[in-house]
Amino acid sequence: MAKTKNKTALIFGITGQDGSYLAEILLKKGYVVHGVVRRASTFNTARINHLYQDPHNKSRKLFLHHGDLADAGTIRKIINKVKPEEVYNLAAQSHVKVSFEIPEYTMDITGNGALRILEALRDFQTETGGKVKFYQASSSEMFGAAPPPQNEKTPFIPQSPYGAAKVFAHNMTNLYRDAYGLFAVSGILFNHESPRRGETFVTRKITRGIARIKAGLDKKLYLGNLDAKRDWGHSPEFCEAMWLMMQQPKPNDFVIGTGETHTVREFVELAFKEAGLGSWKKYVEIDPQYYRPAEVNILVADTRKAKKVLKWQPKTKFKDLVKIMVWNDINEFKVKN
Ligand code: NAP
Ligand code: GDD
Repeated sequence: MAKTKNKTALIFGITGQDGSYLAEILLKKGYVVHGVVRRASTFNTARINHLYQDPHNKSRKLFLHHGDLADAGTIRKIINKVKPEEVYNLAAQSHVKVSFEIPEYTMDITGNGALRILEALRDFQTETGGKVKFYQASSSEMFGAAPPPQNEKTPFIPQSPYGAAKVFAHNMTNLYRDAYGLFAVSGILFNHESPRRGETFVTRKITRGIARIKAGLDKKLYLGNLDAKRDWGHSPEFCEAMWLMMQQPKPNDFVIGTGETHTVREFVELAFKEAGLGSWKKYVEIDPQYYRPAEVNILVADTRKAKKVLKWQPKTKFKDLVKIMVWNDINEFKVKN
């Protein structure tokens, strides 16, 4: 991996799935990495503990700051203090189903949160002479009801408060690029998973459920709509694409995905088979509480632009992703129990 000496990056959402992988990638490239962490009553840094460096270590490369996307003053303070060259906004209330329960909060963090960073950067870029770059974590959920395959030109027809909030943040990012000349890019990423995926997203819920069944802790796994189709990729590869977008001569938006789509049912079937539990039908029950008021039925990425311009290609195949996640959870439960 090519080393990039002395560049400074700031990651909002460093404690999340993608934030942790992106921090690893940037540190390996030689960046000094700053991350914004929400204050919580218990530790919320499990995904980045392996990267932690003692504050007394004079040559440390990772710095953490308390902050929240609801708090414009602190965002501004952190940006002015860190003086980053690259800012990645990966922070969000990122759960689609939860966004129906807390739509206003979702809009405030997932939508307005991005705007708060952009506003702080608008002033900061005058100070740096336009040297700061901004990455917005846009989402395939923005396409919603738009028929597949979806690419950079596909209209947004969001089907959730989360999707609508992401469209707002996406539009603001484009506006700050056009109106103020900010180097601002949006990565429109399709679903991407890993052993670090949050436990309530469907893939991890399935693989964790399987591990609990194998360990004798549960008898059943309760799920919602098994017919939805998603384009599932591997998170670390998608985080590398974020970095590539920020290294382009001009800011631009890119769709990132695998181009393959599978139903939730297919994921379930393959995962139970991989774990050696036989037919999933013995274990899985449908609980309508996991249905959504509106659903995104099918997502398939058209990644021709990313392949051509970024020279980016997905590597991990669907069945390998399932395997990685299943065995990670089975092994984790073996260690714990
Ligand atoms: P994630 O695991 O849910 O991580 C979200 C991060 O945002 C966490 O670090 C979380 O902190 C932080 N956060 C939440 N609310 C915050 C607030 N009010 N102030 C500051 N930080 C806050 O999500 P992810 O899967 O890594 O995804 C990263 C980003 O990409 C998100 O914006 C997501 O919406 C978007 N995205 C994800 C996918 C996907 O398939 N994973 C696809 C497209 C777009 P805590 O750790 O304290 O909760
Ligand atoms: N979470 C969840 N839990 N989803 C379920 C369940 C269940 O028990 N049963 C079925 N599903 C279905 C959902 O209805 C949805 O169609 C599909 O599984 C995927 O759900 P999630 O894994 O929650 O992901 P998502 O597609 O809604 O959202 C993720 O991908 C977006 C990109 O398209 C999140 O990571 C978003 O933050 C991201 O933007």
